[in-house]
Amino acid sequence: VKTIGVLTSGGDSPGMNAGIRAVVRSACHHGMQVYGIRRGYQGLIEGDIVPMGPRDVGGIINRGGTILRTARCKEFFEPAGRKTGAEQLMKRGIEGLVVIGGDGSYRGAQALESEHGIKCIGMPGTIDNDIGGTDFTIGFDTALNTALDAIDRLRDTAESHDRLFYVEVMGRRNGFIAMFSAIAGGAEYVLVPETKTSVDDLVESLNNANARGKRSSVIVVAEGDEAGDAATIAKQVAERSVFKEYRVTVIGHLQRGGSPTAFDRILAARLGMRAVQALIEGKTGLMTGVDGRDVVLRPFSDAWERPSRFDPAYAELMQVLAL
Ligand code: F6P
Repeated sequence: VKTIGVLTSGGDSPGMNAGIRAVVRSACHHGMQVYGIRRGYQGLIEGDIVPMGPRDVGGIINRGGTILRTARCKEFFEPAGRKTGAEQLMKRGIEGLVVIGGDGSYRGAQALESEHGIKCIGMPGTIDNDIGGTDFTIGFDTALNTALDAIDRLRDTAESHDRLFYVEVMGRRNGFIAMFSAIAGGAEYVLVPETKTSVDDLVESLNNANARGKRSSVIVVAEGDEAGDAATIAKQVAERSVFKEYRVTVIGHLQRGGSPTAFDRILAARLGMRAVQALIEGKTGLMTGVDGRDVVLRPFSDAWERPSRFDPAYAELMQVLAL
């Protein structure tokens, strides 16, 4: 493989730029030609493709978002969309593609590979940390720290009043950001989709805490919790608990932006270099990831088939320490 492309797809995440930089510079180091594909698979179909060299990725390691921009492209789910995309690659001599994104992006890459023989390697980029086959995704640590900063600030005001503070964090259908930010922020409760939420239990627990002298509590709610969003849960609790006053904060897209943490930059650098090496070795249909301290390559299907790595021990840790 002498010529490769790189694209970012799905929701952006902090550290994607560090990943693009790693791919471009590693490829150039090996004397390869690199193209940047703008706006994910949408830009691929439309031919929004530009040559990139080491200078094009200067000064981006500390920037959130993605300089290549991104999109969620429905057309690429159809064979016709993939055919057009493959033609755009072939006419530029691009034989390999690095796809930075989530499991939906890998499904597209897998189909592109099986239908048109384009070699594809994935890099997990999402704040949700919801991709099997890797311990961590690029952007999760930054989003987690943004959520934590918000929790720390809310705790200051929560403790100055007799009030409950609900903080709703992102994570799509999983509770990684919620659980980790709740533990790190010393929150009293966390509600995540991985464990069943009982409003009755929460009410009882809050009333007991009040009897023990707790006058305020921070409750972190994952956006995907099956009991509903933070506002809905807060209203139900207020109707039944001794705490009548509450405030709800939805951190929202603030969690997607910001300068990536050192952890995310280094993760992106390691995975980017491995992705390029994998293409040089002629590998395809694999995603890069970390397993413990090691950088690994796993089949794309691990992204959606491997069970959630959400450890129930975290829920116990949370409960014990929130006494
Ligand atoms: O997957 C990243 C994520 O930020 C999720 O946490 C959230 O549910 C979703 O994307 C929001 O999507 P959008 O940016 O399209 O509103």
